[in-house]
Amino acid sequence: MSSQEKIKKLIDLRTEAKLGGGQKRVDGQHAKGKMTARERIEALLDEGSFEEFDMFVTHRCTNFGMQKKKFMGDGVVTGHGTIDGRVVYVFSKDFTVLGGSLSETMAMKICKVMDMAMKVGAPIIGINDSGGARIQEGVTALAGYAEIFQRNIEASGVVPQISAIFGPCAGGDVYSPALTDFIMMTEQNSYMFVTGPKVVKTVTGEDITVEDLGGAHVHASKSGVSHFELENEEEGLLLIRKLLSYMPQNNLEEAPIVSTGDPIDRMDDVLNTIIPDNPNMPYDMKEVIHTLADDGEFLEVHRNYAKNILVGFVRMGGQSVGVVANQPSFLAGVLDCDASRKAARFVRFCDAFNIPLLTLVDVPGFLPGSGQEYAGIITHGAKLMFAYGEATVPKITVTLRKSYGGAHDVMSCKQLKSDLNYAWPSAEIAVMGAKGAIEVLEGRAMSKIEDPEERKKYAAEKENEYTEKFSNPYNAAAHGYIDDVIEPRNSRFRIIRGFQSLQTKKTSLPPKKHGNIPL
Ligand code: HXC
Repeated sequence: MSSQEKIKKLIDLRTEAKLGGGQKRVDGQHAKGKMTARERIEALLDEGSFEEFDMFVTHRCTNFGMQKKKFMGDGVVTGHGTIDGRVVYVFSKDFTVLGGSLSETMAMKICKVMDMAMKVGAPIIGINDSGGARIQEGVTALAGYAEIFQRNIEASGVVPQISAIFGPCAGGDVYSPALTDFIMMTEQNSYMFVTGPKVVKTVTGEDITVEDLGGAHVHASKSGVSHFELENEEEGLLLIRKLLSYMPQNNLEEAPIVSTGDPIDRMDDVLNTIIPDNPNMPYDMKEVIHTLADDGEFLEVHRNYAKNILVGFVRMGGQSVGVVANQPSFLAGVLDCDASRKAARFVRFCDAFNIPLLTLVDVPGFLPGSGQEYAGIITHGAKLMFAYGEATVPKITVTLRKSYGGAHDVMSCKQLKSDLNYAWPSAEIAVMGAKGAIEVLEGRAMSKIEDPEERKKYAAEKENEYTEKFSNPYNAAAHGYIDDVIEPRNSRFRIIRGFQSLQTKKTSLPPKKHGNIPL
């Protein structure tokens, strides 16, 4: 063969490899409204930046006539490229090759990019669309999964890991995404479950559809497995780019500064009127977050799960900040099991990747009742407390209104090593609300008052007395638990200046192998 012929052969082989499982299957993929593995990568990365690895790898299986079912690259496309000029490593399962099912060699390809990402300190993005372990390979496919899982675990807290689910994700396939930082799923075509509807029916007798068992909406709203529910793949690929813009490349770096023209000393009169005079009236905490953030931008995480707490990313003065905020307009912003888990995980992500935390507090307490106790509210509440207490990134807390009881302690109070604690004049920092407190303190006295009207009057007087004394920020400020009571309209400036003053913060925890966070 001449040199020219050899080059032509290379070009032909590349063309063949790029077709994955062949044109018919590519057409089938498009007919379902899905992109191919390579199309997804092209749309995700900066134009022309993709460098592919292992295009010529094929599987080694000989069982069940597999010698005749070989495709170059096998069922995954891997490599690296850039997003906004920063290096990322990516693997994208190719459903056109044996349903993207995982072979030993595919696992080897995926592990290679994960190892490279760890070596250079770059994020790992996995795009999933697969039928799980390659059945013909048996135990080597299972071993391949475990190789990937181990790398997910070791990369956790070292480089950001993001999983997009754009098709089936079943059996062994679900656990790699579950070990990563963020999962997103498309409304059409994507589902995640450990066992599918047929197995469910056989084992438990339950009749359930694929969507109800593991569709995007179920995982974004009920289980909390998925952080984002997407209309389509394009939205997901753009979201990955946006998410990464708030993150550093690895745990030794800081997130990039993205300056805007939004002045840091912008005054927001709307914040002076947002808290209703009636303490039982709700308001939308999202409005507060949008008002505080640079250009009003808030990238909300877990939007449809545990809506009584909000978590997500903003920038303040160009710096990436993780926000955790009670939401008074949903379940009065109460802390329950799901809200505690949701917030704890987010706090730990931010802490692992040097993203400062802003906590906005308006919480009436923990949700009472047997349902919550049986579901382990003690453990889950402790988890959020643990996450805050362990976090060493700069932490600023602003109490807008209620901050009662155990929830006050949990929501990044001063003693959990929050760096700066501010309160608005509307703050109510106390052991509990006036009504509950008076029932406990004055119950005996009130039971002796026979006339109901008199009893009501007595209770109202005592509640007023309690409110005067406790439903304000000044008691806590008098103890130094609140550093300053601030005018709401001035909050953006005070928070940004606070974070600026904390930029050189250095704190460490006592040496240990790792803590034992209540799971
Ligand atoms: C080998 C597979 C496969 C698999 C799909 N294919 N899944 N090959 N191993 N796991 C092949 C099909 O045989 C078919 O090949 C091609 O991929 C496309 O699949 P279809 O079934 O035609 O596609 P579709 O109708 O869209 O259905 C997709 C699907 C279905 C729902 C994912 O294929 C399916 O149910 N697959 C099995 C899912 C499963 O049970 N996985 C769990 C594996 S055990 P041909 O050549 O015929 O077109 C596991 C445990 C690991 O993962 C535990 C680790 C901790």
